[in-house]
Amino acid sequence: MKQSHLSLRTAKTSEAPKLLTLIEANIEEGHLLPRKLDELKAHAMRFVVATRGRTIVGCAELAPLSPLVAEVRSLAVDRSERGSGAGTRVVDELRHRARRAGFEKLCAFTHAPAYFIKMGFSIVPHLWLREKVQTDCVNCPLFRQCGQYAMVVPLDATADTILPGGEAPILHREPAISLARYA
Ligand SMILES: CC(C)(COP(=O)(O)OP(=O)(O)OC[C@H]1O[C@@H](n2cnc3c(N)ncnc32)[C@H](O)[C@@H]1OP(=O)(O)O)[C@@H](O)C(=O)NCCC(=O)NCCS
Repeated sequence: MKQSHLSLRTAKTSEAPKLLTLIEANIEEGHLLPRKLDELKAHAMRFVVATRGRTIVGCAELAPLSPLVAEVRSLAVDRSERGSGAGTRVVDELRHRARRAGFEKLCAFTHAPAYFIKMGFSIVPHLWLREKVQTDCVNCPLFRQCGQYAMVVPLDATADTILPGGEAPILHREPAISLARYA
């Protein structure tokens, strides 16, 4: 039984080295883009971290790709904390923040599409996310052969509405492509 609760908050600039350590530990497994310390210092405030006590156990960045599209980047959860909902909570928090900031879509590029489908994302053609292709993909040595799935969830403002029965409406939950193929 873990002694402290899992909490979410914005990362601090001083925590950039910890973010780097967590991301680097998961680069291979998650096919994550390598990050640099300076870049993480500059963008620490875009990161949501999951903490247990004083320890950062999960993180992800809300990276704007355009005024309308934001991306989940560098999602990683420490191995000792896997399966306790940390990753889902971090992505959910990014989704709320993105919606509040006025973005219309949240996207992710991932080798783990089934994980994102469970959270309401759908697989889309890469070219539906031109912002990403034009900024990052064209400069990548694996352009057109990366094996990453482009995933998107629309950020409908009504998705935060609570129905009379106490449940939030489920919008866009049907995956565009069957989950079984990607599990
Ligand atoms: C993917 C990752 C962030 C999940 O974090 P987590 O905190 O363990 O996830 P949660 O506890 O919120 O969710 C666990 C559920 O997701 C499922 N899941 C985890 N990784 C998955 C994957 N790669 N594909 C499909 N499902 C996955 C688990 O089986 C579990 O399912 P269940 O609830 O039905 O038992 C974590 O495994 C990780 O850091 N992996 C290495 C880096 C990575 O892959 N990042 C994402 C790339 S964009």
